[in-house]
Amino acid sequence: MDSFLRLGDDRQPVLDETFERVRQVWTGFDHAREGEPELSAETRAMLADTLPEHGVNRMIALDQAVHVLDQSLAQSRPRFLAYIGSSGLEIGAVADFLAASYDINVAIDARASSLLEVQTGKWMADFIGFPGRGLFTSGGTVSNITALAAARQRAVPESREQGNTVSMGVYVSSEAHYSNKRAVELLGLGTRSVRAIPIDDHHRMDVAALENHIKIDIAEGITPMCIIASAGTTLTGAVDPLREIARIAAQYDVWMHVDGAYGGPAAGTNLVRDLFDGLDLADSVTIDAHKWMFVPKACSILLVRDYSALAATFGHNEAYMPHVTDEPNPVDVTLEYSRPLRALKLWLGFKAHGAHEFRQAIQHDIRLARETYARASADPHFRVLPTRPQLSIVPLQHIPAGMTDPAHISAHNAALCAAIIEDGRVYLSPAQIDGETWLRPCFTNFRTDMSDVDALFTVIDELGHRIENRG
Ligand SMILES: Cc1ncc(COP(=O)(O)O)c(C=O)c1O
Repeated sequence: MDSFLRLGDDRQPVLDETFERVRQVWTGFDHAREGEPELSAETRAMLADTLPEHGVNRMIALDQAVHVLDQSLAQSRPRFLAYIGSSGLEIGAVADFLAASYDINVAIDARASSLLEVQTGKWMADFIGFPGRGLFTSGGTVSNITALAAARQRAVPESREQGNTVSMGVYVSSEAHYSNKRAVELLGLGTRSVRAIPIDDHHRMDVAALENHIKIDIAEGITPMCIIASAGTTLTGAVDPLREIARIAAQYDVWMHVDGAYGGPAAGTNLVRDLFDGLDLADSVTIDAHKWMFVPKACSILLVRDYSALAATFGHNEAYMPHVTDEPNPVDVTLEYSRPLRALKLWLGFKAHGAHEFRQAIQHDIRLARETYARASADPHFRVLPTRPQLSIVPLQHIPAGMTDPAHISAHNAALCAAIIEDGRVYLSPAQIDGETWLRPCFTNFRTDMSDVDALFTVIDELGHRIENRG
């Protein structure tokens, strides 16, 4: 009998080797490494190879794959403090291996796996105190566009058939994530529909300006379609005043979406729960489990109060898609057809660690951010924002002695950030805040601890002074 694409006798050795490699990788992730490894000439050459017509020895292929991963930028390491990192929760990686091995398609009713998705969505909603259910997507970008499509369906029900027949307004803070703007573009509304509402001193949406804009739009015959509140902006971690925004949304009958892709999970902690007051009044909330719920990419959850709004937006009744129960199929409530079981990594995470441990890990990151802020505030070589971080992003500027000109300080910090990345002990990203360049450490990794904060200051001090003396 012909046999194709099976591992056959190699199955056991490949599994053994894979598990040994994973064990080594996880042990390596426990601690920072002193610098990033070079991308070797050998790896570069291997990655330029042409299509192999015949397979090589499987152990060699596996070894090459691990080399590529080892020479890649890994966010899982404890001193990766750039962007909003993810940290590859170990039990989540196991779940991904299992889910990919079974390769279940949660497009139509997949029996137990469909129930698991519903359960995990409910757990996530309970975790942050939102009265609704969840839907798994590939990321915050897709969750946000899914929410916006539902908001448009509610504001202009005929749009599904007739397109955008009326002008609509979408309201975001001027520092909201650009995926929201992209969603507006993809829905064909045009970015002119986006009202970038000014922010206050805490980088939160100015609610009076929001209300004003809605009133003006209504007076001009524009239909307010959606208010997108940020619960943790990407730039500074600011949480918009959700209760006040919810009041306006109710008053003008506008869908309220909360982009909590980054910050949403913090609503489940005692430490900062108050910041999210009013979250439970939203129509929908985006949470990226691959950010501050620590699981491997890609795993986002769109929580919605009224699940039927999604079915009204995305449902189709095609002959080849059977409906086994009264429940809409996942394809009826999402953008996707073929869908992996993304929920398994969060489900297994909750099962293995419990919600309490997740809350503790998030609070731990917030404390690291507060400590970073406190240390920088007390040091004349640093400038910080006037108020301490709302969540776990701590914008910092290193200030060389006697330097006062903002343009020089920006140039110094841009050069410093490049030097830090080049150095490789700590990984940071720069950010433009109020027209100036800042360093922007962000703590979202359960592996990061106080020794990593120490290392952050050591590296900034050392490289900051070196650049200062150079020029
Ligand atoms: C607030 C916010 N919304 C949405 C996104 C997009 O999420 P994703 O990268 O999962 O598509 C991000 C990413 O950083 C974010 O910070």
